[in-house]
Amino acid sequence: MYARFCERFGLEIPILQAPTGSIAGPELAAAVSGAGAMGGMGVTWTPPETIAEQIRQTRSVTHKPFLVNFALAFEPLGLQSALEAGAPVITLSWGDPAPYLPRIRAAGATVGVQTGNPAGARRAVQLGADFIVCQGIEAGGHVQSTTRLDALLREVRAQLGEEAFLVAAGGIADAADIARALNAGADAVMMGTRFVATVESRAHPEYKRRLLDADSEAQTSLTVCFEGGWSHAPHRVLRNATLEAWEAAGCPPIGRRPSEGEIVAFAASGDPIYRYEDVAPRIGHTGAVGEMALYAGTGVGRIADLPEAAALVRRLWAQTQALLRPENRPQSSSPSLHHG
Ligand SMILES: Cc1cc2nc3c(=O)[nH]c(=O)nc-3n(C[C@H](O)[C@H](O)[C@H](O)COP(=O)(O)O)c2cc1C
Repeated sequence: MYARFCERFGLEIPILQAPTGSIAGPELAAAVSGAGAMGGMGVTWTPPETIAEQIRQTRSVTHKPFLVNFALAFEPLGLQSALEAGAPVITLSWGDPAPYLPRIRAAGATVGVQTGNPAGARRAVQLGADFIVCQGIEAGGHVQSTTRLDALLREVRAQLGEEAFLVAAGGIADAADIARALNAGADAVMMGTRFVATVESRAHPEYKRRLLDADSEAQTSLTVCFEGGWSHAPHRVLRNATLEAWEAAGCPPIGRRPSEGEIVAFAASGDPIYRYEDVAPRIGHTGAVGEMALYAGTGVGRIADLPEAAALVRRLWAQTQALLRPENRPQSSSPSLHHG
């Protein structure tokens, strides 16, 4: 039940903004949290001193909870820095959370673990995770799951029981998607691609434009094309020239991919970005940014505008409430009626 989730984690609206790598910075996190949902930042590749600064910046704008994510395919070098700066919620994905959970809990932060299968969910709960993000195969970005979200939610709920806090992620882009997940027993939803297409996201304007232009799930593919930097990790992206040339060449392995080693764009620092790198285009990147990894979930066809994040949260929640089953609908005293 979403009301129970909101009460436990200090939210008014049971929506979590996914940590979409460096595209989700303090501006986005603070706007989403300020609206009563839970904003987030992905800091896996951010230097520790910048992580601390970003957390301080977010906390100076909102006193509400927000999440800070580490993808454990990489050593979480900035974890201590995040905890010392007072990150209220840490989420972990892509790896074994066991070595890090005690430290996070000792620092007093809430912990969420994203997983793509029931065994991962069970283990995370045994280790003391406060909530589990069930990521379905529909998700944008790197995809841990091989299962569709509805089936995954059902299996995890059956194994963990009613007490576990389950957040549904993957392909959720509009109010009907949110209501479907909550009516199916999720306690909250996490949305990534939808928030990439907002004013505050740091995504390059060309990337945002392509998200708006895509009109169906068929314009995404789950692939291993953009393997540079993150090995053996399937990811869902918008189809673009790099992906199509690689597929036309028969999906060759690293070392034999078409135009491998070619510079496709430049970072704001002037550093080159090579074709097949796992980096998504951000503000300040220049060059053929549309040929970089354009991560997107299957809900992309239902994203048609570029709103401010707080307005988006309020609109989604107002529309969702009308679609909830009676037992899920807010009572008159529910905190969900207040849009902070
Ligand atoms: C651009 C982008 C970057 C992402 N980066 C991360 C990340 O750094 N860490 C992580 O745990 N998940 C990351 N994800 C996956 C999200 O956590 C989440 O599972 C996904 O966005 C949900 O699917 P949706 O995009 O269809 O809403 C990313 C997703 C996108 C679209």
